[in-house]
Amino acid sequence: MRLLLVMMGMVVPAVILAEPPAGQLPPAFAGTVDFTKDIRPILERSCWKCHSAEKKKGGLRLDVAKAALAGGNSGPVIVPGPKAAESKLLQLVAGLDAEQKMPPDGPALSAEEVGKLRAWIEHGAKFDKDDRPESTAKRSNHWSFQPVRNPAIPQVRDSQFVRNPIDGFILARLEQQNVTPAPEADRHTLLRRLCLDLTGLPPTLEQVDEFVGDLEPGAYERLVDRLLASPHYGERWGRHWLDAARYADSDGYEKDGGRPWAWRYRDWVIQAINSDMPYDRFVIAQLAGDLLPEATPETKLATGFHRNTLTNHEGGVDPEQYRVEQVIDRVNTTGKTFLGLTVGCAQCHDHKYDPISQREYYQFFSFFNSDVEKDIEAPVSGERERFEIARKAHETKQAELKAAVDQRKSALPDMQAKWEAGLVVAELRKLPAPVRDALLIEPAQRNDAQKKAVADHFVGQDGELKKLTKSLKDHAAKAPQLSRAPTIAMGPARKTHVMIRGDFLRPGVAVSPATPGVLPPLRDDNPGRLSLARWIVDPANPLTARVLTNWLWQHHFGRGLVTTPEDFGTQGDKPSHPELLDWLASEVIRRGWSLKQMHRLIVTSATYRQSSAHRPELQDRDPLNNWLARQNRIRLEGELVRDVALASSGLLNRTVGGPSVRPPQPEGISDLTYGGGARWVESKGPDRYRRGMYTWFQRTSPYPMLMNFDSPDSNVCVVRRERSNTPLQALTLMNDIVFVECSQSLGKRLAGASGSRAERIALGMKLVLGRSPTPAETDRLSRWYDDSLKLVNERPPEAGAWTAVARVLLNLDECINRE
Ligand code: HEC
Ligand code: HEC
Repeated sequence: MRLLLVMMGMVVPAVILAEPPAGQLPPAFAGTVDFTKDIRPILERSCWKCHSAEKKKGGLRLDVAKAALAGGNSGPVIVPGPKAAESKLLQLVAGLDAEQKMPPDGPALSAEEVGKLRAWIEHGAKFDKDDRPESTAKRSNHWSFQPVRNPAIPQVRDSQFVRNPIDGFILARLEQQNVTPAPEADRHTLLRRLCLDLTGLPPTLEQVDEFVGDLEPGAYERLVDRLLASPHYGERWGRHWLDAARYADSDGYEKDGGRPWAWRYRDWVIQAINSDMPYDRFVIAQLAGDLLPEATPETKLATGFHRNTLTNHEGGVDPEQYRVEQVIDRVNTTGKTFLGLTVGCAQCHDHKYDPISQREYYQFFSFFNSDVEKDIEAPVSGERERFEIARKAHETKQAELKAAVDQRKSALPDMQAKWEAGLVVAELRKLPAPVRDALLIEPAQRNDAQKKAVADHFVGQDGELKKLTKSLKDHAAKAPQLSRAPTIAMGPARKTHVMIRGDFLRPGVAVSPATPGVLPPLRDDNPGRLSLARWIVDPANPLTARVLTNWLWQHHFGRGLVTTPEDFGTQGDKPSHPELLDWLASEVIRRGWSLKQMHRLIVTSATYRQSSAHRPELQDRDPLNNWLARQNRIRLEGELVRDVALASSGLLNRTVGGPSVRPPQPEGISDLTYGGGARWVESKGPDRYRRGMYTWFQRTSPYPMLMNFDSPDSNVCVVRRERSNTPLQALTLMNDIVFVECSQSLGKRLAGASGSRAERIALGMKLVLGRSPTPAETDRLSRWYDDSLKLVNERPPEAGAWTAVARVLLNLDECINRE
């Protein structure tokens, strides 16, 4: 074989063909072995840098007796006494394990050293007195693990600028750099910015008039309050949250079955945010709403958060493997969403950068390991009453139908006797043999089997009974059902083990629930998921409030104070304004975790109200606008690109909540799903025009328009969206049927409006951009109208020309950006 390959000119690495060397453990050292003199120096030199109080690689300490004998992640590694040779420790230092050797790098131990370790273990592996630190508590100097401070608000020179403490922090930094802040944006821009940031919808004509006409002091604040009270606020911020919750309407994986009740969780989020549920309760409900002493269907519904995990229903998969994958997803999502930590990096090995060991990963894992998925009855508001009435009606009808069936059945024996009496030979011949034979016997003399054969036959041919039974069955199938909701519940307790290399087939030592040692301890003797949730929102937790306020900031400025919201660990970016971040974090706790109050604080700051105009003089000094010497211009999220077009063209259906819908999408998309199984039955009527967040999200064939505009694929938790700029986006806005319909609708509105051409152009501009056109813009659009009039072949041509104008407005860059 080898020869053949060589002849064919192929080089085969010798190792593939050679047998692994038959390794042998060096014999135990014959002389006496003393821990302090012989063993400790080996361990200290070759092992302690990775296996002691500071670092416990593989979960193993080799510097104190108790921990060393307890072993590492895979269990005991030292077998004291006559079976010493079986010790994993010896196997590894002698290089006898094909996958691992210790130390992993640097010179291997000499045969004599291994022999000494062997003799030492044979003699009981005695340590001298434990003079090494017992504590394994981790300390870290990393900023985000330090307690949140409540810094003083800096003094600034230009106190005119300052509207609230946020501005003090921002301005202090600008003054250090000798940079003045940008001027305030004009009122139209502020209005559109606020409407989009707080509700995700462009201002309506009424909102424009109301705000622009309100010249009293406090007009801006009043607008903010109106917007925060709008039901669309919950949609806007709910959608941000759904990114982290990896919300979708289907299972994922190849089969990607639908989840008809997923929207119940989405509705819960919208309502919770609209009612300004304090963030601590919001978190606890989602992680442990089923375990609260006062649990209700509502709090259970919130646990739908962790039902958004992918589910694999393929035949032949190992259910345990996918269960474990789900738990891993829940652990990693929890770490990322609430703590800004990449805990997932410690699934297969100790975290390479942050102080989270692999064992701690599985301790965290064990909080979720006994969870099961459970669909519960969760009636929507008013449904219970309707259900009870429907259920009664159904039962009454059911009883009627049953009575009819019974009546018919009881009438059958008599009918059978008559039928038998009237049978003629010709008919008899046509019957199945057993029935015919039985009928030839006198009824009284038939045995049970014969009686049954005749009766069954007679019953079977009774059309009336068939009809009655069928209606009974059909009716039973139509029993009214309460709406359901996907939730998480506690299943039977499961033991959790470290999974060696993250492999569920290689269980290591057993672990119990605990939080990472670098963070404040969990004060609970018997901790479960509820205690974990409470620990996350404990004001002593240094991460939660920082991560939360950074999230709020990010969506009001386009970037967070920490630009890596997914990673507050050592590999993430440092905060641009650490004091401001801490001040906001302590403020949110002081304000009882009220998000509405925090929004109000942020958007009423002078910092937020700055113009977003680019400042060429700062291009080199602060290219990413870290100092916030202006607002940022933000390309709208995919859902909002749709919402803005629908809203300004008058098509938008503003219903809040409810099941997902299927607006038109290009043909052939659902053919891409498993066996084309997820058919896209286009919604009719007003359901075609719901906000983007209600679009049915099929994981294996997501709505193309949303994908083109960087909506997340929902397979994993996302706390920061990409913002790309591609030609597909322009093509979508120009040609996608939804946007074509929007142009037509807006065109129709402009064509039907009263007033001069310039006035109608101004109306279109106000509807789409919330502002009036400049004379130059009016002029250009007017000329475009004239040109279009000649080109369109619609009747009357004016309608077509106005559609052309509308199309330009809806395709403006300004339309899909927030200044
Ligand atoms: C450079 C760091 C480093 C040094 C030095 C080191 N180890 Fe390790 N050791 C590790 C890591 C990392 C693991 C875990 C590997 C894994 O999970 O696959 C490990 C795992 C082990 C394990 C297995 C633990 C278990 O439960 O699976 C033993 C036993 C071990 N080391 C012994 C030693 C001994 C003895 C020495 C000194 C002769 C030593 N190691 C030196 C990094 C080190
Ligand atoms: C599914 C298992 C798995 C996950 C999850 C995982 N790793 Fe690893 N990683 C490995 C394996 C296996 C190795 C190679 C063996 C080793 O070094 O332990 C490795 C090696 C590494 C190394 C190089 C090893 C060294 O010491 O130079 C780094 C760095 C690393 N991983 C970082 C990460 C980070 C960061 C994450 C999270 C984003 C992560 N890993 C998540 C399995 C994983």
